[in-house]
Amino acid sequence: MKIIVRPATGADLSALLALYSELNPDDVPLPRASAEAVWAAMSGQHGRTVLVADAGGAAAGTADCIVMPNLTRGGRAILFVENVVVAGSFRRRGVGRRLMEAAVRLGESAGCYKVQLLAADDAYVHAFYEACGFRPLAEGFRRYLA
Ligand SMILES: CC(C)(COP(=O)(O)OP(=O)(O)OC[C@H]1O[C@@H](n2cnc3c(N)ncnc32)[C@H](O)[C@@H]1OP(=O)(O)O)[C@@H](O)C(=O)NCCC(=O)NCCS
Repeated sequence: MKIIVRPATGADLSALLALYSELNPDDVPLPRASAEAVWAAMSGQHGRTVLVADAGGAAAGTADCIVMPNLTRGGRAILFVENVVVAGSFRRRGVGRRLMEAAVRLGESAGCYKVQLLAADDAYVHAFYEACGFRPLAEGFRRYLA
């Protein structure tokens, strides 16, 4: 299986929404116009890259990356990763690993000093991130807003 990891474009929007429905199956699907407005905001954001793993034209997985400029650590930025998901039919074939390698390369090329993410509270997800070179070095806190 040949996988190319590349930045998503507007043409990938439907495929991204399908992947996100696998990530959060309980979410009510976004109306198309809302999705397009959000995509326009995302794609205009400096330092934002939505990676897509392209398997011969099929979107096998995605990871959303953003570079946060930073005044600590000698002014080196931080790369945050969110919304990591691989389509069910493509799992355990190295797609997630390729996405995380691409995220790390993005961070390196932006001069970041770390790549940071929150992992779902699942042993297999932790095993995945550890296999990709990440370590559980901090505890995540989250507060949902109404
Ligand atoms: C987590 C997820 C992104 C992994 O993607 P993937 O493409 O299947 O992962 P890879 O095939 O690249 O796996 C790389 C390594 O991670 C580990 N790994 C991945 N899935 C695993 C599992 N289910 N159980 C144990 N280890 C696992 C293995 O070490 C694997 O290497 P190996 O296959 O050579 O043993 C995918 O399972 C997924 O989309 N899950 C649902 C969404 C989700 O939970 N996202 C993360 C939110 S924080």
